[in-house]
Amino acid sequence: MSVVKDLKQTVQGAMQGAMQGVMAKAAQVAPESWLPGGRPDILIEHRNGLIGAPVSRLDGSLKVRGKAEFAAEFPMKNMVYSALAFSTIAKGRIATLDTAEAEAADGVVLVMTYRNAPRMARPPALMTGDKAGAGDDLPVMQDECIHWNGQPIAVVLAETQEQADYAKSLIHVTYDVETATTSFAQARENGTEQGTFMGPLLTEIGDADVALAAAPIKVDQVYRTPRQNHNALELHAATLAWEGERLLVHDSSQGVTLVAWSLGQIFGIEENQVQVTSPFVGGGFGGKFLWQHQTLAAAAAKLAKRPVRITLSREGVYRVVGGRTITEQRIAIGADLDGHFKAVIQTGTVAMTRHNALPEPFISSARHAYGAETFKLRVEVAYMDMLANTFMRAPGEAVGTFALESAVDELAVALGIDPIELRARNEPEKDPTSGLPFASRNIVEAFRQGAERFGWSKRQTTPGETRQGDWLVGMGCASGSYPYSRAPGGAARITLTQAGHATIYVAAHEMGMGTATVHTQVSAARLGLELDQVTFILGDSTLPGNVMAAGSGQTAVIGGSVMAAQQALVAELLKLLQKDSPLAGLKAEQLLGLNGGLAKADEPERHETYSSILTRAGKDEITVETDAPPPLESMHWCMYSHCAQFCEVGVHVVTGETRIRRFLGSFDCGRILNAKTAASQFRGSIIMGLGLALMEETQFDERNGRIMNPSLAEYHIPVHMDVPELDVIWTDIPDPHAPMGAHGVGEIGVTGVGAAVANAIYNATGKRIRDLPITLDKLM
Ligand code: MOS
Repeated sequence: MSVVKDLKQTVQGAMQGAMQGVMAKAAQVAPESWLPGGRPDILIEHRNGLIGAPVSRLDGSLKVRGKAEFAAEFPMKNMVYSALAFSTIAKGRIATLDTAEAEAADGVVLVMTYRNAPRMARPPALMTGDKAGAGDDLPVMQDECIHWNGQPIAVVLAETQEQADYAKSLIHVTYDVETATTSFAQARENGTEQGTFMGPLLTEIGDADVALAAAPIKVDQVYRTPRQNHNALELHAATLAWEGERLLVHDSSQGVTLVAWSLGQIFGIEENQVQVTSPFVGGGFGGKFLWQHQTLAAAAAKLAKRPVRITLSREGVYRVVGGRTITEQRIAIGADLDGHFKAVIQTGTVAMTRHNALPEPFISSARHAYGAETFKLRVEVAYMDMLANTFMRAPGEAVGTFALESAVDELAVALGIDPIELRARNEPEKDPTSGLPFASRNIVEAFRQGAERFGWSKRQTTPGETRQGDWLVGMGCASGSYPYSRAPGGAARITLTQAGHATIYVAAHEMGMGTATVHTQVSAARLGLELDQVTFILGDSTLPGNVMAAGSGQTAVIGGSVMAAQQALVAELLKLLQKDSPLAGLKAEQLLGLNGGLAKADEPERHETYSSILTRAGKDEITVETDAPPPLESMHWCMYSHCAQFCEVGVHVVTGETRIRRFLGSFDCGRILNAKTAASQFRGSIIMGLGLALMEETQFDERNGRIMNPSLAEYHIPVHMDVPELDVIWTDIPDPHAPMGAHGVGEIGVTGVGAAVANAIYNATGKRIRDLPITLDKLM
């Protein structure tokens, strides 16, 4: 059975791969005008005063009044609360499991274990299909097997949260322990395999080893980055109920359609029998897809025949939701005496499980950053018995740029060249590994603007020269990058009323970044309406599209979808025109949305309002729904965002404590759509980068595979006192090949920060720390 399934998956995978290969080739050679993005989006020219405006969040008032409903706030009649009990071994079998005492406790409605859980199919793991949304493909509470330390072994339902929490402490369990691989060194000794993430994580151009050996100047070092856990402010939660064979889930999600489809697969029902809503999310960062808690809550609700709310405790998030995996990266760069790169080598190993498909792709930035003559880039995977790791803000780039950009700084020191100048000398003309032309790349300009504003020219080149009292002060910089992506699956519906109000529907997500606000702006600009004439509805799996808030791509997906839907709307409106309309006889591509209606783009006095068109046609409203065109643009052009990060630190000479004194991020992400919400994304991301640089580290006990610091008391993230005022600027140069000219802004800000901090610490102290986080013990 499973062999047949595996075979089917292999064949389907190969076919999909071949299709993509053919598509990619076709897209590379196709004339530009055929491609999405081949003709610049009209909004790059016609901004209507809305594109880029610092509009405050339209949902801000709802949020401050507590009227924005999050997943754990939806009321349901007759609802019960839940708590999870977790395994304390990494691998083995449950030997005895006694739930009698828990079942007898006050308020307890049900204790579910593998013995009484309903039969469920294995979850479809992320990256294994369009709508596969699960963190791993392990069976959920179907047998006595334990696969990681912290795996849920029981669900308690009770009338109150406190009763559920107490009752779970009354569950008694013993295990038959099996040998587990819980040390990274052991896992590597067991043998590593080539990592794969959208293709093999392997790029070889020329003979980099030979070029490195021949280079007169070189650096060659190993960098290490630790495990990190997700800590979204809003805990993972779901409130859900069955109505017959229909499942309604209010979830905290960055992939409502993925969760709906995947739950359908698990419970053997149709995708459209599951509705997942997620109108507001308190942070996702890659960690809010389908983990065991939603499935377990749905299974328990089925057994108890009552609605269930599940809110993971902070510890629960560490036990159930994967984080960023550990990496060890060798970087070697060989250069000639002028600093031109002859070889870039970035190879190393990450930990992963056998049950998921996300090796941290740390080579992704090195594939595009510098115009070296030879490359050897490779990620290998070592398998461990642990909770499946997952996406965490800029997976790959966040830790890959720490190593790469530290190494570039080390090379600048070896060459005696300013690190910004060294980067500029290695700026490629086209993508150095794929050969594709860049759609838009202004990293040199971002560095120029950033350096000027930050006062880079005041930096002392020799470490240890600037001392203020007991503090050594230094400056560092680094570059970062993150891909533009417009994933397939976008779609949008527009309903336009005779009164001239448009409502736009997309199954997208508002995780706190301002999606609904920005797309109200963009859609209003596209339609030629005012902000208050547009309503943007998202956060529901029954809406159009299969859209993830991931890969910093949601804005491009929504933008491309609304663009297509607006074109369909114009086509429909043209059919309704009366013969005496000023627009009669015009073609759709000659029109744009303007002043509450349509106008001829180059003759705007030829105009008719939507109200007039619909009234004269006798229509109350009109609705169109369209799929976005496939994202061929990123097969034709190399499309990346870039940033230049600048940091000034003080390092205490006695305690080794590092304080961030100043930080500036200079971004090249195409057109910025909302100056306020984008700045907020940049700052939030930089703060996450400061945590990566100085604090964040999951304490994983390699003897037993247990996470030992599952709380915000022991897992440190930056607090206000750790973060100075953050300066963020941007080039605002539109990418002509992206909808609105815009790239995503969610993840780029975390890239390069680790290296900017490490390079500043080197400049302050002369100490090169190649092992994150840079805690004070490493500097004493
Ligand atoms: Mo992001 S790590 O794709 O949510």
